[in-house]
Amino acid sequence: NKYKVAVVGATGAVGEVMLSILAERKFPISELVALASERSAGSHIDFGDDEVLVQDLANFDPSSVDIALFSAGGATSKEYAPKFAAAGAVVIDNSSTFRYDDDVPLVVSEVNPDAAKNRPRGIIANPNCSTMQLMPVLAPIHREYGIERVNVATYQSVSGGGRSAMEELGRQTAELLSFQDIEPKKFPVQIAFNLIPHIDEFQPNGYTKEEMKLVWETQKILGDSTIQVNPTAVRVPVFFGHSEAVNIETKHKITVEQARALLGKAAGVEVVDEHKAGGYPTPVTHASGKDPVFVGRIREDFSHPRGLNLWVVADNIRKGAALNAVQIAELLVAEGLPPKATGG
Ligand code: A2P
Repeated sequence: NKYKVAVVGATGAVGEVMLSILAERKFPISELVALASERSAGSHIDFGDDEVLVQDLANFDPSSVDIALFSAGGATSKEYAPKFAAAGAVVIDNSSTFRYDDDVPLVVSEVNPDAAKNRPRGIIANPNCSTMQLMPVLAPIHREYGIERVNVATYQSVSGGGRSAMEELGRQTAELLSFQDIEPKKFPVQIAFNLIPHIDEFQPNGYTKEEMKLVWETQKILGDSTIQVNPTAVRVPVFFGHSEAVNIETKHKITVEQARALLGKAAGVEVVDEHKAGGYPTPVTHASGKDPVFVGRIREDFSHPRGLNLWVVADNIRKGAALNAVQIAELLVAEGLPPKATGG
């Protein structure tokens, strides 16, 4: 079977990587449709060795699309994802628009792939990048030792904010190094040479929405609403790769050796944990441009009888967004989703 695949937001930071991962993993495609706003319609973008024309989403007829990967912001998903689904496409949506709806599965390919089969609205949600990279690490620990509580501080790169956020870090860095004044646009305050403990909107409880996503999504993906999650989400002046300082409290004690053994065989996880300079993952040295979630600094928490510390790093654009979306599409292929056009 070959599929007509649409990438909505194809010119964006995530969309561009969706195209390259589809090509790299030789996804069975009969036709690739690149969609974006009227701003970039008419331009061409790379798809493997080919170039494809970017078309205007607003004027596109989705009736022949089999699978649509959406990463063009929440408002675009809200308006167009139901239209694509009504036209019979399976939508894999990277925005937060549908993630918390009971009739929309929220899927991390290594963790809860079966959830993707039950999609009454024809929409499958791709988790937020910070939750995504935590799940392949926490799921095996939760299954064997039972996680009661997660304390997590994130160190999130600017690429999670899209192309304009990356441009702002680059521009501010250059301006500050040449003694010019900077003017924050995309971020609320200066991001170059700074840290910002504010991602997405503040909620009535004082947490930000980015932080609450970690709570809601962890519980939904692990299928356990009793897991307590206490997050602090911070934007850092790194281009690619999110890092997370994670402390978990388990029902049953897990030792460092047990954690290393478990994570050493966990799908999509790579342990990098040597007690020497550089013997731990960082966004630049390990994660950027790579598929796995890297885990290091594994320590038993000496302040708690059943506590464990972890340092978790992944490429937020790849595993955190584009790669997992493509992996969900691969689940559809494995399930034998019938393409609309035969013989493609
Ligand atoms: P465009 O390049 O035409 O603006 P990023 O997350 O890097 O900012 O990228 C956002 C992506 O979503 C881009 O591909 C952008 O296309 C696309 N996009 C944003 N708004 C719309 C819209 N209203 N309709 C279609 N695509 C949109």
